Amino acid sequence: MLIISPSVLAADFSKLGEELKKVKDAGAEYIHLDVMDGIFVPNISFGIPVIASLRKKATAFFDVHLMITDPIRYIDDFVKAGADLLTIHYESCSDPAAALRAIKAAGIKAAVAIKPATPAEDIFPLLAEVDMALVMTVEPGFGGQKLIPETIEKVRVLRSYAVANGLTLDIQVDGGITAENLPLLTEAGANVIVAGSAIFRADDPAAVIAEMNEQASKHPYQA
Ligand code: DX5
Ligand code: ZN
Repeated sequence: MLIISPSVLAADFSKLGEELKKVKDAGAEYIHLDVMDGIFVPNISFGIPVIASLRKKATAFFDVHLMITDPIRYIDDFVKAGADLLTIHYESCSDPAAALRAIKAAGIKAAVAIKPATPAEDIFPLLAEVDMALVMTVEPGFGGQKLIPETIEKVRVLRSYAVANGLTLDIQVDGGITAENLPLLTEAGANVIVAGSAIFRADDPAAVIAEMNEQASKHPYQA
């Protein structure tokens, strides 16, 4: 089943509560929250207090994408703030397995992300321990970029590995995704779709989400 996770990075930050309600009403179950520290990526977004405030208003599943150095330092804080899923970057820590174990030990879902230049094979040893792998389809740091087509093959490699090894694995894609290029990603094996600009900047977010679901049902992954 396809899960759409609208990224609030493209929302109006002066009224985040309303923006979350807008996409929830439009049919999104997840909310993608991009945390950036200005070190792992060249941008700063928002952090723990903002997520904790939103948690009081929203019932959506909080899909928190940590683009921060040494995320293990803050895992318990993000869990307390209300994250339902924490994604750490493979490139952001010296011991990604330890960070992922800490997330699972805190009782929520854990995911590992890779940047466009990181080979899919690098995270094979971690896949049995995670709920989701995130393939970045742009360089992390900014919304509104164009999808890098070469990243799509990594989705296929990860899905094939999961199927061959009997792993239940969500595969998320993030960056530059629209209803038009979505079929390329679902055909390759992605089932959790992050979209910021395509949803929050649309006149009718519900129509975009409906179109994404329609496209995904026409172009599913086939092993
Ligand atoms: C980029 C973030 C993305 C971003 C996606 O570093 O991880 O989640 O907000 O935005 P769009 O869909 O506009 O590319
Ligand atoms: Zn993201």
